[in-house]
Amino acid sequence: MTEALWTAVDEYIIRMLVPPDPVLDAALDASDAAGLPAIQVTPNQGKLLHLLARLQGTRRILEIGTLGGYSTIWLARALPEDGLLITLEADPRHAEVARANISRAGLDAMVDLRVGRALETLPRITAGNGGAFDLIFIDADKQSIPEYFRFARKLSSRGSLIIVDNVIRDGRVIDAASPDPDILGIRRFNEMLATEPGVCATAIQTVGAKGHDGFAIVLVTI
Ligand code: SAH
Ligand code: DHB
Ligand code: MG
Repeated sequence: MTEALWTAVDEYIIRMLVPPDPVLDAALDASDAAGLPAIQVTPNQGKLLHLLARLQGTRRILEIGTLGGYSTIWLARALPEDGLLITLEADPRHAEVARANISRAGLDAMVDLRVGRALETLPRITAGNGGAFDLIFIDADKQSIPEYFRFARKLSSRGSLIIVDNVIRDGRVIDAASPDPDILGIRRFNEMLATEPGVCATAIQTVGAKGHDGFAIVLVTI
């Protein structure tokens, strides 16, 4: 089993089930042209996020890590007209590209993009008036996943779904001696999750065009 085969199978799935979409394709082209790293979710993963958001009947989404807004568009498209998606991005260059992509998608009214390091912008977000977020997608720097999860718990309520990307990292997650801050963050998150009250969680490893990685899914039950 090679990455070439995983990629070919991803291409097959995408060809069969994720038809070309001018707005999403333009977002990828613009991100590429601007020199953004191509680390967004794959089209079939983007559609999974969209499906989960629809299953959830989501009205309020929080995303940590916007990049060029590719996953943002997939998620926001699952919202009702009066829905809201807040997305957090540290890099102003990424945010600028994302803004144009979100605008081209006609999602300006629904998407609130906030520029700054998430640990600084998160404290200003409250479950407040509109209620808790019913879907939270954590996909920024990996060393801070435990802190992002802490915020996600505060900003969620019973029935909310928290999805955490990149929790396997080529299997390096099982290396207890790894000095890599990303791996340390992911492992600290797993330890936290293992004893977290009021959640039901699992993690799934994936192979595909982005190599061997995976995501965690957490349902808030209390
Ligand atoms: N969710 C996107 C991919 C995000 S890539 C998609 O699938 O389309 C991770 C992003 O997180 C990058 O754009 C990076 O600049 C951003 N990021 C890294 N550290 C951050 C931080 N501390 N706060 C907010 N964003 C951060
Ligand atoms: C990286 C970040 C991601 O969110 C991802 O899905 C893949 C890779 C990275 O920083 O390398
Ligand atoms: Mg990711």
